[in-house]
Amino acid sequence: MAAQDIEHLTPSEAAAELERLAGEIARHRTLYENEAAPEIDDAAFDALVRENAALEARFPNLVRADSPSLKVGAPPSSQFAPVRHGVPMLSLDNAFDDDEVAEFTARVRRFLKLGADEPLAFTVEPKIDGLSANLRYEKGVLVQGATRGDGRTGEDVTVNLKTVKDIPHRLTGKGWPDLIEVRGEVFLDHEGFAAMNAAAEAAGTRTYVNPRNAASGSLRQIDPTITARRPLRFLAYAWGELSAPFAATQWEALELFKAWGLPVNPLSVRVDGADALAEQFAHLEERRPKLGFDIDGVVYKVDRLDWQQRLGFVGRLPRWAIAHKFAPEQARTILNDIEIQVGRTGALTPVAKLAPINVGGVVVQNATLHNADEIARKDVRLGDTVIVQRAGDVIPQIVEVVLDARPADSVPYAFPEICPCPLKTAVARELTAAGEETVVRRCTGELACPYQRVEHLKLFVSRKAFDIEGLGERQLSAFYEEGLVREPADIFKLARNEEALAVLREREGYGETSVRNLVAAIEARRAIALARFIFALGVRHVGETTAGLLARDFEEADRFLDACKRAAQAQPGRDYFDLAVLEGIGPVNLEALIAFGRNGPFEDPWTDAPLAEKIGQSIPRLSKPVRARLAEHFGDWTRFTEAVRAAADHNAGEAFLELSRGQGMGLVAAQSLATYFAEPDNAARVDRLRAELQVEPAEKPKSDTAVAGQTVVFTGALERMTRDEAKAQAERLGAKVASSVSKKTDLVVAGPGAGSKLKTAADLGVKVISEDEWLALTAGT
Ligand code: IVH
Repeated sequence: MAAQDIEHLTPSEAAAELERLAGEIARHRTLYENEAAPEIDDAAFDALVRENAALEARFPNLVRADSPSLKVGAPPSSQFAPVRHGVPMLSLDNAFDDDEVAEFTARVRRFLKLGADEPLAFTVEPKIDGLSANLRYEKGVLVQGATRGDGRTGEDVTVNLKTVKDIPHRLTGKGWPDLIEVRGEVFLDHEGFAAMNAAAEAAGTRTYVNPRNAASGSLRQIDPTITARRPLRFLAYAWGELSAPFAATQWEALELFKAWGLPVNPLSVRVDGADALAEQFAHLEERRPKLGFDIDGVVYKVDRLDWQQRLGFVGRLPRWAIAHKFAPEQARTILNDIEIQVGRTGALTPVAKLAPINVGGVVVQNATLHNADEIARKDVRLGDTVIVQRAGDVIPQIVEVVLDARPADSVPYAFPEICPCPLKTAVARELTAAGEETVVRRCTGELACPYQRVEHLKLFVSRKAFDIEGLGERQLSAFYEEGLVREPADIFKLARNEEALAVLREREGYGETSVRNLVAAIEARRAIALARFIFALGVRHVGETTAGLLARDFEEADRFLDACKRAAQAQPGRDYFDLAVLEGIGPVNLEALIAFGRNGPFEDPWTDAPLAEKIGQSIPRLSKPVRARLAEHFGDWTRFTEAVRAAADHNAGEAFLELSRGQGMGLVAAQSLATYFAEPDNAARVDRLRAELQVEPAEKPKSDTAVAGQTVVFTGALERMTRDEAKAQAERLGAKVASSVSKKTDLVVAGPGAGSKLKTAADLGVKVISEDEWLALTAGT
């Protein structure tokens, strides 16, 4: 059925067609997978799957419980299974001008000891700005697809990659090795990106700022039917593991890929000699705006594979290839308006509303303006002509104002003093803990502000928090307005709330399947890991990492909540903070200062001794630099003693200090949690949420291992595990992982290429071991 036919189907016709497709696809799958007796070829089978996906995209409420798009075994959890790359997926060095390209080609010649007139061929390939993927074919059948990840370990996104129509499920032709991993770029072209954003806008779900983010978001969907609806493309340009070599040159490899049904970029060429590179670069740069997809440069590769082999790698970058980057794309347009968006914590972000302008193929209408100070610094005014820039994965930016084109009657932009939210609160500049002004301006409505509440609900259901599929911005805003979901606990009450479900059906137009799916998605999250629970509270300064550390420290939700509530009653006052946030004053010095502030003596001891000396005489525990720092800050004895006495009067209680001493915590995060829980409404809201959930205790780090309690630093290349794996393992075994070597480091694990950290370790006499020794040390635990 063609796309235009799908447009004209009625819901009942569509339902009948979906039923037919579910039966057909299941039958062909069995014939192919279990009986090895296919009745139709891959292309015909793919056409059925695609038709099903297109229908589901048009009628999301009709997706069947037994839909073939759900059948492929979507992973149950939010994470994809890790895939270890047998051959690492590396990156490319960059050249930003002709000189750097000349250096590259000269280096190649030198390394290969080529005479000046010995021929040296290169391939020139557009560098598509998407994300790379690894496709593993065994006996010509696609058995696994993975993302690049950190280069050594990627994510298993087989099911999702299989929905990309450019990717053959079987290689055609002949001559492919029994095992071949084909690598290439997954991306969205401009047309696909625009269509996807238009659909998202119509559905009220989130739109993406650029094709690269959209492609990445689309590929990493938990639900492959969503990926299937995105017009992702794929172009092959490299390979990983092989059972046998299959080509002598890069060019031959690309030709073979084509013969096996793998798409390769038709714009790639082979050239002889380095002189031709600049010509090709100029040619592609000129065509760039009309290509229909984003390229951010051109890749030059030495064509002969035996030479590639000889050239090898410097660190993680091949010596045989380089990416010659283009300058970011720019265009001129008019700034029509500045919209103020209210974020989850009330921060106000100005967004430039531009007269729509095509910047290198993508229509840009919004650009970031960061904050009020940035607007003032650039003196951006309504009606100005501005230069907009779009580069790779960054949000479009305003580079500068074209002053020559400024209207004569323009006036400097005045940042609003009243928040655009329904509460119309006064806008306040945010202060640091020490009371200094920051660039951030906030709505002071906090939880009374519906904008902030909806933003918090969005965070709550997001991937890193409760990860609830089917609750997007549009649904949450609608539920909020209907009064169905005003706080997180309400989400879990939805399923039991017949009245709410009736509203979904009647007013929001949900079909039975959609209601069922939503309820199931919510129920699946009733049991939740402690770290996610903490992160999802959305407390300022408590991000994913801090939440993870808190979960490990407290292990159980109730212990954590209890500690926060006690800390809320033991918060220090402002005077304490003024002292605590002075640079260089650690917790130990602070304690000494507070002890002095409590008891004195405060009489000025020697009238003409320098202040630093007086401070040292009174509090001998303070180090020289700290005495100097305090003297510099306070200037005279009276000011110093008054500040310290005031801090002691407003000292933090033990419960607060306890919270602030946790790993990865500190005064700011502790203060943020304490302030949050000091607000009775917040505490009550958390309790209502807690009552709906089963919060799973965090795994306790081990204390009986060889490395428990030690501070470990990993440096250099690890060959048997990724950095993330090494870190996770060390932490599981009760060690602390640090990023730099200091006196506090107990152990340095060094791989090849380790540099300055190794030297520091030697200087400080810190023990250094190899990766293998580390594995032996931690084996069996
Ligand atoms: S070759 C060891 N060829 O650019 C070399 N990469 O900066 C492996 N890319 O991760 C990469 N087009 O995502 C290669 N024709 C091309 C490419 C290309 C785009 C991307 C790819 C890679 C990144 C490296």
